[in-house]
Amino acid sequence: MDKIRIALIGYGNVGQAFARMLMRKKSYIEETFGRTPVITSICTRSRGGLICPDGIAFEGFEPEQIPDDLFDPTLDAMAVIRAGEYDVMAELTPIDIMTGQPATDHIRTGLLLGKHVITANKGPLAWAYRELRELAASQGVQFCYEATVMDGTPVYNLTREALMGCRITEVSGIFNATTNFILTEMERGVSFADAVAEGRRQGFVEADPSMDIDGWDAAAKLTALMNVLMDVEITPDQIQRTGIGGITRADIEAAAARGKRIKLLCRGRLVDGAPVGTVEPTLVDRESLPAIMDATSSYVTIDTDLMGATTIIEEPFEPEIDHTAYGVLSDLLRILKEVTR
Ligand SMILES: NC(=O)c1ccc[n+]([C@@H]2O[C@H](COP(=O)([O-])OP(=O)(O)OC[C@H]3O[C@@H](n4cnc5c(N)ncnc54)[C@H](OP(=O)(O)O)[C@@H]3O)[C@@H](O)[C@H]2O)c1
Repeated sequence: MDKIRIALIGYGNVGQAFARMLMRKKSYIEETFGRTPVITSICTRSRGGLICPDGIAFEGFEPEQIPDDLFDPTLDAMAVIRAGEYDVMAELTPIDIMTGQPATDHIRTGLLLGKHVITANKGPLAWAYRELRELAASQGVQFCYEATVMDGTPVYNLTREALMGCRITEVSGIFNATTNFILTEMERGVSFADAVAEGRRQGFVEADPSMDIDGWDAAAKLTALMNVLMDVEITPDQIQRTGIGGITRADIEAAAARGKRIKLLCRGRLVDGAPVGTVEPTLVDRESLPAIMDATSSYVTIDTDLMGATTIIEEPFEPEIDHTAYGVLSDLLRILKEVTR
């Protein structure tokens, strides 16, 4: 059976969860597409590169425990990408919200080599989406990014497949789980600092949560959604952004006394033809859609010219990382559907 060879550029939480999910779905992929999925290249910043053209056997070790001595510490990401021993590259390095790098360079290089590319990193969509989309089209390859916003929840795929012909006029929603969790905890009487500490204990609040609290993560997601769905060119620094760092228990109690809740809402639309994005704490009615999004739930509402609004909700799921891994897998399946039809 022919192989589909996969390179993982970045092998942290998402890369490892994806590798495990790929093993679980190997028979499904073989039966459905007639291809055996194999991971032929892996790269991390600290361990270097692992290139195995026939596919890593994963014998005697789990995806999370690849022995260090299989990696060549002299191979960096670009060396692994340029070696070209793969059909599909998954770019899974950490985001730099202010530049989209080095992920954008990784993706550009993969596309120039004629490889299909998947990313879970919203940075490249926020800084270079149009360029990368056009490069992929000119190279005749796929560029997929379902996991970048709301993990594997089918935001892009659903819009692409089920809202064909619609022009998207606005995107809005709650895109950041950390801030939604902190606000929900504060409504329960917990202090800001204790809410952050509890989120850390549960494993989804980062050691340094400032990018979430200051609204940068939500701004990057809004930018990615606007660039892809509304075909605009906007960057995260152009989003009008206010985080939740200034919200106090007194604010939350005052909102509750008026039958309201405070939510970090994102909204992207065109004003006189120009893209305008906002991320800001907003008073919402207690019965409204954003108000019922508790803890780590998020949602996006997509407004269109032909059929009004469609809302997609992401509910919490355990293990949470599998949501993201599924986003990467769904992109791989889309590529397989294209290349094997
Ligand atoms: N975790 C989630 O729930 C989630 C959800 C949606 C999207 N995402 C996105 O998915 C991507 C991966 O997230 P993650 O949670 O897997 O991150 P992570 O656990 O921090 O793993 C990142 C991986 O990238 C490697 N790396 C860092 N810089 C690199 C470079 N310059 N060249 C090659 N490899 C490099 C790291 O290597 P070392 O470990 O050796 O430093 C590590 O293997 C991020 O862009 C993130 O925003 C994550």
